[in-house]
Amino acid sequence: MTGIEDLRERARALLDPETWQYLEAGTDDGVSARWATDAWQQLALHPRILRGVSETRVATEVLGTQIALPVMIAPNGRATRYCGDGELTLLEGAQAAGTLVILPSSVIPSLPKLRVLRPSQPIWQQLYMAGDRAIMRDILGTVQEGRVGAIVLTVDLIPDGRAAPPPPPPAFWEGSDPAPSFDRLYSGASIDDLAWLCAETTIPVIVKGVLRGDDANLCVEAGAAGLIVSNHGGNQLDTAVNVVDALPSVVAGAGGKIEVYVDGGVRRGTSVLKALALGARAVLVGRPASYGLAADGAEGVTGMLQSLEAELRRAMMLCGVSSLDGIEPSLIGRGMVDRPSDKVGQDS
Ligand SMILES: Cc1cc2nc3c(=O)[nH]c(=O)nc-3n(C[C@H](O)[C@H](O)[C@H](O)COP(=O)(O)O)c2cc1C
Repeated sequence: MTGIEDLRERARALLDPETWQYLEAGTDDGVSARWATDAWQQLALHPRILRGVSETRVATEVLGTQIALPVMIAPNGRATRYCGDGELTLLEGAQAAGTLVILPSSVIPSLPKLRVLRPSQPIWQQLYMAGDRAIMRDILGTVQEGRVGAIVLTVDLIPDGRAAPPPPPPAFWEGSDPAPSFDRLYSGASIDDLAWLCAETTIPVIVKGVLRGDDANLCVEAGAAGLIVSNHGGNQLDTAVNVVDALPSVVAGAGGKIEVYVDGGVRRGTSVLKALALGARAVLVGRPASYGLAADGAEGVTGMLQSLEAELRRAMMLCGVSSLDGIEPSLIGRGMVDRPSDKVGQDS
């Protein structure tokens, strides 16, 4: 066992049961959470040979920001449950690996302080839509002050969407503010609210939680600058479609007009390659960053990202592609479900 699974086992041994449950559990029967990693594994690779690939290039840009690998950190609340300095340590670990962090909405009250501590690091900020536009304007003011490169508007969560409320954060890094409350979350938000937000701010708005092509299209028309295909890590609507099946229709719905990213169950470099082959610009990882924080702090986060990068480079070489642009749909197909031996077994 190597890579992220190894980190996960170390995190499990170190975390208290309540925190582990919060991090790992899916909603209801945990079906979407269980499907997530398997869905990537069930896509088979169709590698090319003899393509003269002796080196690989994995750096890319997301909305014009350079990142060293096509993997970013998804917003996950309660980082101080995994490591005392929480988001500060997370930022440090991601920067060492050359990628960016999407900070969760819970950090908003402390964002200006965090910005003072990390003055030049690119940061994206996740938000929920508040029902009251005056509150939303206040939040936008804080986000502007925090000089974030993009707003990630999460739209797939309702206040009581999880089976159990999140545990309180145990401690906060110096200067941070108390626990967030969900009263800023407006579950009645509509596409008009998205259009309002996009018009209200000059910061690009990315919509997180898109699973359908028709919704992708609506978001493009409302002015979104990017989309994240996500089912919240199986943490909201159980049995929601897995992101591997949803990604192609969202990419089609976006029509090449805006960037599309994906998260959920990405644990291997081969999964990153498959996501790009299906049309994603980059992937996000959520729980793996928390495993890294819990197991080894900033170094754990950096190591997690570097292991994904090493696996991605290896997969690219073995698939005969030297650059991310060369990763195309013909490299993947349905593996296990289409295997002739499985069909023989079923027929006889
Ligand atoms: C413990 C936990 C906390 C999360 N907190 C947030 C959050 O604050 N904001 C948000 O937009 N998504 C949140 N998510 C969803 C993640 O951003 C992301 O979609 C998910 O973790 C991706 O799946 P993965 O963990 O398999 O990589 C959370 C997910 C988990 C598991």
